[in-house]
Amino acid sequence: MDHNAGLLAILKRAPVIPVLTVHGPDDAVPLAQALVDGGLPVLEVTLRTEGALKAIEAIAHAVPDAIVGAGTVLSASQVEEARSAGSRFLVSPGSTLKLADAATHAGIPLLPGVATASEAMAMAELGYHVLKFFPAEPAGGVAYLKSLSAPLPHLMFCPTGGIDETKAKSYLALPNVVCVGGSWITPADAVKAGEWKRITELAKACASLR
Ligand code: 3PG
Repeated sequence: MDHNAGLLAILKRAPVIPVLTVHGPDDAVPLAQALVDGGLPVLEVTLRTEGALKAIEAIAHAVPDAIVGAGTVLSASQVEEARSAGSRFLVSPGSTLKLADAATHAGIPLLPGVATASEAMAMAELGYHVLKFFPAEPAGGVAYLKSLSAPLPHLMFCPTGGIDETKAKSYLALPNVVCVGGSWITPADAVKAGEWKRITELAKACASLR
């Protein structure tokens, strides 16, 4: 399976990818289970906390139905760390040649971030046809992404950044959107209080968006 097909096979599993910023296994595992129970198996754990890699490792072991990936991957050195921890895919807010090379070398699908037609074209030249549109809302939202679909019909996007359930629906109606990402499904207060049932309900609402 080539890079794009491998990535699409993951991203097509659910209309929404929850973006998780967690501190370690204690919050990550029940949170991941709650999301999977609600019908969202594809999870992005951002590498923004000290415990993020341990959280990925724990989810990969303890929540077998989850497909866990690493987000906020900024450097080539993080690629192998994330892969070894059990990440099945990587997400980056922007795109660099070094990161793309490292992901290809590690044999792990990368969803690289772009915000302009030029950035999207540069990644397409490298063979990346599935891209994260980031930060989706500040960069122009649904209207902007819709405008990209006419000149760049061969590119598919996962918009992320500032999206909520209502906006997700509008993005998912575009022909060039495979899924959307966001943190609204994992409110910090619900995670802190261990309100896993509330999170499962939020996930259920997202799982039926398309
Ligand atoms: C991120 O990397 O923070 C994601 O894009 C999530 O964005 P959101 O918190 O605006 O949903």
